[in-house]
Amino acid sequence: MASIQENHTWSGRFNEPVSELVKRYTASVGFDHKLAMFDISGSRAHAQMLAECGIIAEQDLDDIRRGLSLIDAEITAGEFVWSQDLEDVHLNIEKRLTALVGDAGKRLHTGRSRNDQVATDVRLYLRSAIDDLLVLIKLLQHSFIDLAEQHTHTIMPGFTHLQVAQPISFAHHLMAYVEMLARDAERLGDCRKRVNRLPLGAAALAGTSYPIDRERVAELLGFDSVCENSLDAVSDRDFAIEFTACAALIMTHLSRCSEELILWMSPMVGFIDIADRFCTGSSIMPQKKNPDVPELVRGKTGRINGHLVALLTLMKGQPLAYNKDNQEDKEPLFDTVDTLTQTLRIYAEMITGIAVKPEAMRRAALQGYATATDLADYLAKKGLPFRDAHEAVALAVRFAEQKGVDLADISLAELKNFSPLIEDDIYQVLSLEGSLASRNHIGGTAPNQVIAAIARARSRLEK
Ligand code: ARG
Repeated sequence: MASIQENHTWSGRFNEPVSELVKRYTASVGFDHKLAMFDISGSRAHAQMLAECGIIAEQDLDDIRRGLSLIDAEITAGEFVWSQDLEDVHLNIEKRLTALVGDAGKRLHTGRSRNDQVATDVRLYLRSAIDDLLVLIKLLQHSFIDLAEQHTHTIMPGFTHLQVAQPISFAHHLMAYVEMLARDAERLGDCRKRVNRLPLGAAALAGTSYPIDRERVAELLGFDSVCENSLDAVSDRDFAIEFTACAALIMTHLSRCSEELILWMSPMVGFIDIADRFCTGSSIMPQKKNPDVPELVRGKTGRINGHLVALLTLMKGQPLAYNKDNQEDKEPLFDTVDTLTQTLRIYAEMITGIAVKPEAMRRAALQGYATATDLADYLAKKGLPFRDAHEAVALAVRFAEQKGVDLADISLAELKNFSPLIEDDIYQVLSLEGSLASRNHIGGTAPNQVIAAIARARSRLEK
């Protein structure tokens, strides 16, 4: 009996065609065609294994390979015709394969289901995305490091509560982001281990009765191992959730940096200027130059966080094994990869194009009594208990504030009123340079330490 509709891959037992509305609702080809090349790779490996295990004939394998190469070329040339009637990327390719090579095309699906097929495709896609993203993270780290290298002696205020806290170098501040990105890369690399396992062979949910060789398919596709439970293999998307969590953290780090860039570029602060090509003007206020790129990065972070919540919510109510819900994993995942890729790429360029204004940074560092802690440490080192030192310095700061001067502008005689322990070596301690130089241990802001940190970061990147 002829099947009642075009999509006769599964419509044999149906009495009426699927409604147009439902077709549109359930079709995923509009977005999962993005998996096409991975679907073809998976099919090539599966077919090769089937032939090696004697499940299909060598001739079938040859035909399948020939057909898949033609399809590959059609897709690359933009000539492949995607049909919504054929639901998804898998059925579109299979149908075309059969049209091109006949029965061999129909044999390709032996011992396989779209359930293990799609799980494999998504893992291949994500593995490749992770590898690209790792390169981009390195690129961005290089941008930060290159800028930092020029500013190991550029002094700016370090903040807590956005109040001037202690002087730091601009390089030290930038290197904080290099550290964050190093952990981000580490996390992605770790996630990759769990992505890189093969679901194929799980078939619909329980495995297959054909004498397949899953290890062989894993080897052909570069997977580290096979997923050990067929139900788990077809149904869990934890690897995609984990990836999106990694992405959300990267975006969060870049969002924090963006917030700072925006603040630093405000004329009220004026620490930096972002190159014109990363900014836009205002249609009404001619004087404006807006830091649109960092603002959008900050905004798009919300979007990635949303994708993470979407994927978590998608999984949470699903019984084993595969459910169609999982088709909804793709758009959030694809958008996460695309958004993150674009963000990292543009960020690496933007950081390179930052003009630094060291005078403004220095002026700000001189304003908020940033070396008060140095004075307290000086007294404590001379034997005054730190709490008492803290109190003495607080009084000195109050005095300086009333006079409208910096601590370093107070005469020695006046300083001695706050503690007789103060000698004239205090002026070196109170200087911004002295303050930086004194924080001379690993992780500190002393220029020699930051120079060493930069060297370590560079050699880490070369590995
Ligand atoms: N398009 C589907 C997805 O993305 C492929 C798997 C469909 N399997 C099924 N039994 N309907 O999840």
